[in-house]
Amino acid sequence: MSALGEERRVVSVLFSDLVGFTTRAENLDPEDVRAVLDRYYACARDAITSFGGQVEKYIGDAVMGVFGAPTAHGDDPERAVRAGLEIRDALAATNAADARHDLRVRVAVNTGEAIVELGARTWAGEAMVAGDVVNTASRLQSMAPENSVVVGPETYQATRLTIAYRPLQELHLKGKRTPTAAWLAVGAALPPGERLLTAVPVVGRRTELAALAERLEHVLTRRHAHLVTVFGQPGVGKTRLAAEFARTITGIGGRTLRGRSLPYGGTGAYGAFCQQIQQAAGILGGDAPADVVVKLTSATTSLLGPEEAEGVVACLSVFLDLGPGGDVPARHELFHAARRFVEGVADEHPTVLVFEDLQWADPSLLDLVEHLASRIRESPLMVVGLARPDFLSVRPHWGARLPAYTALPLEPLNTEEARELAGLLLSRRAGGDPCPEPGEATAAQLAATADGNPLFIEELVASLVERVTTLSAGLPTTVRGIVAARLDALPADERAALLHAAVVGKVFWSGALARLAPQPERVEEILDLLEWRDMVRREPRSSIPGTQQFRFKHMLIRDVAYATLPRATRREGHAAVAAYLEETGASSEFPAAAAHHWAEAGESAKAVEYLLAAAAQAERGWAKEEAVRYYHQALALVPAEAVATRRGIRLKCAVAEQMAFHLPDAELLRPRPGE
Ligand SMILES: Nc1ncnc2c1ncn2[C@@H]1O[C@H](COP(=O)(O)OP(=O)(O)OP(=O)(O)O)[C@@H](O)[C@H]1O
Ligand SMILES: [Mg+2]
Repeated sequence: MSALGEERRVVSVLFSDLVGFTTRAENLDPEDVRAVLDRYYACARDAITSFGGQVEKYIGDAVMGVFGAPTAHGDDPERAVRAGLEIRDALAATNAADARHDLRVRVAVNTGEAIVELGARTWAGEAMVAGDVVNTASRLQSMAPENSVVVGPETYQATRLTIAYRPLQELHLKGKRTPTAAWLAVGAALPPGERLLTAVPVVGRRTELAALAERLEHVLTRRHAHLVTVFGQPGVGKTRLAAEFARTITGIGGRTLRGRSLPYGGTGAYGAFCQQIQQAAGILGGDAPADVVVKLTSATTSLLGPEEAEGVVACLSVFLDLGPGGDVPARHELFHAARRFVEGVADEHPTVLVFEDLQWADPSLLDLVEHLASRIRESPLMVVGLARPDFLSVRPHWGARLPAYTALPLEPLNTEEARELAGLLLSRRAGGDPCPEPGEATAAQLAATADGNPLFIEELVASLVERVTTLSAGLPTTVRGIVAARLDALPADERAALLHAAVVGKVFWSGALARLAPQPERVEEILDLLEWRDMVRREPRSSIPGTQQFRFKHMLIRDVAYATLPRATRREGHAAVAAYLEETGASSEFPAAAAHHWAEAGESAKAVEYLLAAAAQAERGWAKEEAVRYYHQALALVPAEAVATRRGIRLKCAVAEQMAFHLPDAELLRPRPGE
């Protein structure tokens, strides 16, 4: 199989163009033109890169940015729209600061699948992404109102909860037969990385809530700080679990102070702790600095007394960046003040500090969290950290030096819970919008597709209801983006192995993978690492002797990995797998599998041969309906000119159909043991 130079990826493309600049440029001195353009380019470039995008190219006055390639972040459409809004606002600020400037832009963001050249040297003018998504983004941009950001349907769908939009009239874009739906992005509806939790009752999680409650009990009786870190994949329900736990705390007269670290556009290293100080002191977002100082002083004085308060407030002011207040204290002084403040808060009411999204936290904040958890010995304080599993790769020894530490893994919902959540969400949605596929079967299918991840279940329900599509129409962009980010976070050789394994199928063999991988001798070692990462599972028995059998732990990973491969690579891969099955003799035992791989490799004749073998095998086992299915699949592959072959297959199919129809009667006639 060829090297993975090209991939199919879901990308968000941003186009930003100056309005009427070309006409204005005619009357300007060239140096002035350059100065204006430089300012605009710098502004666009900074916005794109600060949200994790990449500048693909400059076309005239237009700038094209790409989000989601070469690396996906999991929320690339949102990042792209935020970058667009940033360009709009930054230029407005430039204009306001200097009356000679009247820079106006049109910005558009469009999301969709593109073919991505991974090795492209964009700085040398090589294109990294190509596809309709790029052309549509450019056309949308040309139709955008001045100083505004317009987005296409996929971008809207993926960001509808985090960005505030106004619908626009459908646009008739050049080269498109049907009109394109478009929305005007007004502004951010939520802070970065935040999401609204749904109102449906929490499903499952009794064990995890009980574990947290037990730790809390311990904290209350021993008056000893305890750190619990909840680990789980994006969307699995860490924030929701913490929100449910907060209710328990309120129920016992305690309080929860919540702080979040941000994926981009941070508010200083200690941002999450600052939010907690603000909540404890009743400081609001819009308070003037003088009011903040008053509130902070009054809260600290009432907690620690006037004598100690002065020094603590001076340090907390540094955390809150309240301006110069003499010499900057040393770090241990800052940490000590933080500890004293938290002790004061916890002595007043049992307190839980929730630190969300530790995977994005600055190392200094992580040090502070460990400091608080290790030093507070006589106050009822519980510290709850929420983190995605990749956090451990930045901080492998997290919690190791603490006297009281618990790691709480949050697994996906089990099948029943997932089905229950899907059912709840479907019935809630069905009350408002029309749901094309209501019912138990849909809930079960949704739950299975989502691999038990509540966020994925929500997104699948939303795409089913809002877009009135079917489940088979493909994964929602949000889900594919999050799974793609998980794949992109893997070391290159492990990621490549997963992509290759995806061609073999949900179940695959190390021997087959060795045929596809560039370094066959490393396959076993890489599979071992992937098993350790909980991506694949080694099965106790292999259906092909002499080789290890594996299974993808999550079907979504296999599906997204497969969707990433370009068609030609898939074809080559399927041919190699089919050849492997033949060489090992597995094709005679599993003819349907061999047929599938030959068909996907574009080798119809071979596929038909194996489909007929599969049908014969099924008939021998009296699985007549299955046999009929194989005959139909074979007929779909035999060309119309091959009249005799088609007739032969149709005849066999008709006989099998008859047998299937009479199967219940035949069953009755079959002698039973002892008769
Ligand atoms: N047990 C549950 N029952 C019902 N809904 C749930 C449950 N767990 C999570 N959800 C819902 O699923 C969505 C995603 O959950 P949440 O935001 O808590 O995930 P997360 O693990 O914090 O993800 P991230 O890593 O992105 O922060 C939310 O809308 C939440 O309300
Ligand atoms: Mg969360």
